[in-house]
Amino acid sequence: MSQEQAAATTAPHVQLREICIAHYRFQYLSTAFEFGLFALLSQRPGLARTEIAAGLGLAEQPARILLLGCTAFGMVRKDGDRYYNTELTQSLAHNLDQFPAVFIPFYQHITYRAMGWFGESLKANTNVGLKKEFGAASTNLYSRVAGDPVLEGAFHNAMGALSAHLSDEFVQTLDLSRYRHVLDIGGGTAVNAMNLVRRWPQLQITILDLPSVAKEANERVSAAGLGDRIRALGADALADAFPSGSFDCVLFAHFLEIWSTDRIRAVLRKAAEVVDAGAGIFIVTPFQDDDETGPQNAAELSAYFHAVASGEGMVYTPREFEAWMAEAGFESSGRTFVNNLVDHIVISGVRTDHAVQKDE
Ligand SMILES: C[S@@+](CC[C@H](N)C(=O)[O-])C[C@H]1O[C@@H](n2cnc3c(N)ncnc32)[C@H](O)[C@@H]1O
Repeated sequence: MSQEQAAATTAPHVQLREICIAHYRFQYLSTAFEFGLFALLSQRPGLARTEIAAGLGLAEQPARILLLGCTAFGMVRKDGDRYYNTELTQSLAHNLDQFPAVFIPFYQHITYRAMGWFGESLKANTNVGLKKEFGAASTNLYSRVAGDPVLEGAFHNAMGALSAHLSDEFVQTLDLSRYRHVLDIGGGTAVNAMNLVRRWPQLQITILDLPSVAKEANERVSAAGLGDRIRALGADALADAFPSGSFDCVLFAHFLEIWSTDRIRAVLRKAAEVVDAGAGIFIVTPFQDDDETGPQNAAELSAYFHAVASGEGMVYTPREFEAWMAEAGFESSGRTFVNNLVDHIVISGVRTDHAVQKDE
């Protein structure tokens, strides 16, 4: 029976209860992960409860509670008096800096705390979750995590692993054979840029990102021996003018959805101003279906952007992006859906010679 069929045949009150207790499930998973239970059971499968309690440094009763929950929720298997990882959790015992393990600290230390303020964030139309949990002066998560070792690690490790995972696939869908110099707005630590220049030998890429991120991007690029192909400039893409250069293509990868519709339209206009007619544009983004019915990851990320990350963005429909592109002077030329972990889309277009429209 598929998950959808199972859900359809499960009574509504059971489905509601599943939703209501989701936070308990996650806390068992996250706590067991952070205490090292899955790593311990991977090294020494078949430990008894007292041995696990000693291994994790827990008293007998807390260990019993942790193991009860992990067993009930399918995270460990109990056979007689002995405990084992399940298929679900064996992958959490290794490669802790990669997907999927790397996401557990991100959810635990960032989103679980802040999402308790979801309703307040919707009412106030800003990211109350970030301000309440991480400091009143915070305007967005990107500037807030800088300098806090736990938050910065949880955030950038998860984002870096996600970028690497997504980049491998979407980079294959971008046809950059016609272009020579790409302006990569919010290009992060150059994961995409390095993949792209390796694939397209004629290509130069200029990344524009916040100064601390640009510095790290340049260090990574140099270490990879790609300093003659990629350079990163530190700037605020929202407040500062875009650099002018010989760009014939602009890339926005996982950047526009962070922001409000007004900011997206302004940023697209700035992009149109620094390229000539015929230049390309690629927008890589999670998407909401044009009929606004899903998918679920659009709902998850929209809540995250609104209550935590920026307080103004959400996951938009491809149709909206195409309309904003047209308004800025880019004619859309195609959509490619990429289903790799997170549903996202590549929207491509070409700069027309139409005048850029102003805000109504
Ligand atoms: C979700 S990450 C995407 C990184 C990369 N493009 C990718 O696809 O993996 C968003 C990026 O936008 C950058 N960013 C956020 N606010 C910015 C701003 N005002 N100006 C420039 N970059 C910004 C962040 O530093 C981060 O690198």
